[in-house]
Amino acid sequence: MSMEKMNILVAKLDHRWITSILKKSWIAMASKVHLSTIPPQPVIPSKKPFKVDLVGGKRYAWCTCGHSKKQPFCDGAHKSKAQGLSPLHFVPEKDVTVWLCGCKYTNNRPYCDGTHKQDFIVSAPLHEQT
Ligand code: FES
Repeated sequence: MSMEKMNILVAKLDHRWITSILKKSWIAMASKVHLSTIPPQPVIPSKKPFKVDLVGGKRYAWCTCGHSKKQPFCDGAHKSKAQGLSPLHFVPEKDVTVWLCGCKYTNNRPYCDGTHKQDFIVSAPLHEQT
């Protein structure tokens, strides 16, 4: 085999080896990296608010993802069903009865502000808890 053919063969082998290594590295890296940092949109568990008696000084966790089965409060479902979203913690100053948002799209979290009456909520599908 001539030196020129030998160089071509080595170059082809190098190319295949490098390509193989890069593919393996990319596949390994892609499986560990979340390519999106955009948090998911909440689902709509209710198109009406929840009337709730709150205890002053107690810490509450209002569900922001809509997947909780303990609406309007968090049950940890966001950890598996809505990564990137987390509950809103709040502590009322005194005992109070409030309307907590059930649609998850209020602009006054965690309280209902009437957003559930807007078309984009009215026409949206209601989330079936699973
Ligand atoms: S239930 Fe969400 S704004 Fe009223």
